[in-house]
Amino acid sequence: MASPATEHHIGAQAARRRTFAIISHPDAGKTTLTEKFLLYAGAVAEAGAVKARAGRRRATSDWMAMEQERGISITSTVLQFDYRDHVVNLLDTPGHRDFSEDTYRVLSAADAAVMVLDVAKGIEPQTLKLFEVCRARALPVMTFLNKYDRPGREPLSLLDQIEEEIGLRPTPVTWPVGIAGDFRGVIDRRDGSFIRFSRTTRGTSEAPEELLHAERAALEEGPVFDAALEECALLAEVGADLDMKSFLAGESSPLFVGSALTNFGVRHLLDAVIDLAPAASPRADREGTPRSLDQPLSGFIFKIQANMDPAHRDHVAFLRVCSGRFERGMTVTHGPSARPFATKYAASLFGAERDTIDEAFPGDVVGLVNASDLRIGDTLYAADPVEFPKIPSLAPELFSTARVRDTQRHKQFRRGLDQLEREGVVQVLRDPNGDPHPVVAAVGQMQFEVFSHRLEHEFGAAIDLSPTPYTVARRTDEATAEHLRGAFGVRVLSARDNTLLALFESPYWLARLESDHPDWCLEQVLAEVPSR
Ligand code: G4P
Repeated sequence: MASPATEHHIGAQAARRRTFAIISHPDAGKTTLTEKFLLYAGAVAEAGAVKARAGRRRATSDWMAMEQERGISITSTVLQFDYRDHVVNLLDTPGHRDFSEDTYRVLSAADAAVMVLDVAKGIEPQTLKLFEVCRARALPVMTFLNKYDRPGREPLSLLDQIEEEIGLRPTPVTWPVGIAGDFRGVIDRRDGSFIRFSRTTRGTSEAPEELLHAERAALEEGPVFDAALEECALLAEVGADLDMKSFLAGESSPLFVGSALTNFGVRHLLDAVIDLAPAASPRADREGTPRSLDQPLSGFIFKIQANMDPAHRDHVAFLRVCSGRFERGMTVTHGPSARPFATKYAASLFGAERDTIDEAFPGDVVGLVNASDLRIGDTLYAADPVEFPKIPSLAPELFSTARVRDTQRHKQFRRGLDQLEREGVVQVLRDPNGDPHPVVAAVGQMQFEVFSHRLEHEFGAAIDLSPTPYTVARRTDEATAEHLRGAFGVRVLSARDNTLLALFESPYWLARLESDHPDWCLEQVLAEVPSR
């Protein structure tokens, strides 16, 4: 047990941590906002640095070249910076629905999320899935309506859309003065003050802010200020006020309006991350018992990434610290194997750039380099054993058969398959008594593209992927599998952990089998939604 002084220290360090992820549709402004957070936190002197770094990084890796080509981010990165005497851990998520599973895993390591919406576009159908994933995790979500410096939709109509489509009740904390495209500033609904913004060239430095009382604002801003006041009155009438209890339960969402490009409203949002988002708190183990923050070190792996830099064939496992103090070099226990694991090579990551990390506290993320025995969902602990809940997979919807083009490259193919499955790029399913070619399963088509690109470029095993007619999977058992093996439009395969998956061509056929044979074991793949 830690001494009282250490306990106090760990509790205080955890209370200073804010660990959150930004989720958004590609192009909604996630990168710009991230960069502006760094600007406001003083972590970069001038906006533009992150993109420059990103550019350098991308130049070093094949598969990141693919990201650049498509203008999407596939690899999640972790940024850590200090702000107002707090430590902010920002977990990046891929901004594409095809990588929802990756987002889902990253969210398991976050204590809150910021959802960025483009005010002109609102919620776009392709992104709905990402937000649903967020809802499924019951994370506290804050909303940022971005690009208000450009013509866009009425914010009130966006509030309706958020509530209807995601089921989150938006509670605006700030409300814009001026229409989209003529953005003057925001009213802070908590105290009624008006904050007027001024532009700087391309937002490379902080936007000057002026605090005005209502009377002066009305005088200087005229009708647009009155209109904003009226809308605020309407919001108060319908009870759309900040409510911490429902926010922390993932039911309501404090909303901010701004423009990441011009920096308008960025400070309000970053302050809200500190003031409203929860600090790292005790995590429940598999039995639902919280492990208190001051117990010895514990954490779980939520992401694995190999070959981030092809020049050094490396392998990084990302550990979210849940309790205790992490010290580089300490030896911990790897939960699943009960073997000791030495943490000699620990790093904090800024994009793909690394600094050695010496200590970390609950809420922090540690990159364990060359930890090839670790898998997603594994728990690591010191002293008192603990197992955190597994991170469930999302139900795959696409299934393709993978064949290596050159059979001489079979060894490389197997190695690549093993590695990419371990990273969760795709799920690999096999037929133990039949077809030797594995079936790879994914949530989105782009997962296949990354899979095949990486197999070819990192492992030297070019493959052909041929689609199969299956569209839905259910977890099953041996008894039911016996019945299913001969059935029309069904195939039974096994996953790496030996669970049996039954693939069905038609959801209607599946529904029919379910109703005809209620005693058969046909479980939804995403059965459990883990508690935070
Ligand atoms: P992402 O990470 O979510 O994909 O979006 P990113 O920040 O890269 O932003 C996408 C585009 O939207 C960029 O323009 C960016 O400058 C612009 N943008 C972001 N926030 C705002 C905003 O508040 N207002 C306006 N008007 N634009 C915004 P781009 O032309 O693709 O790139 P760039 O040449 O400006 O860098």
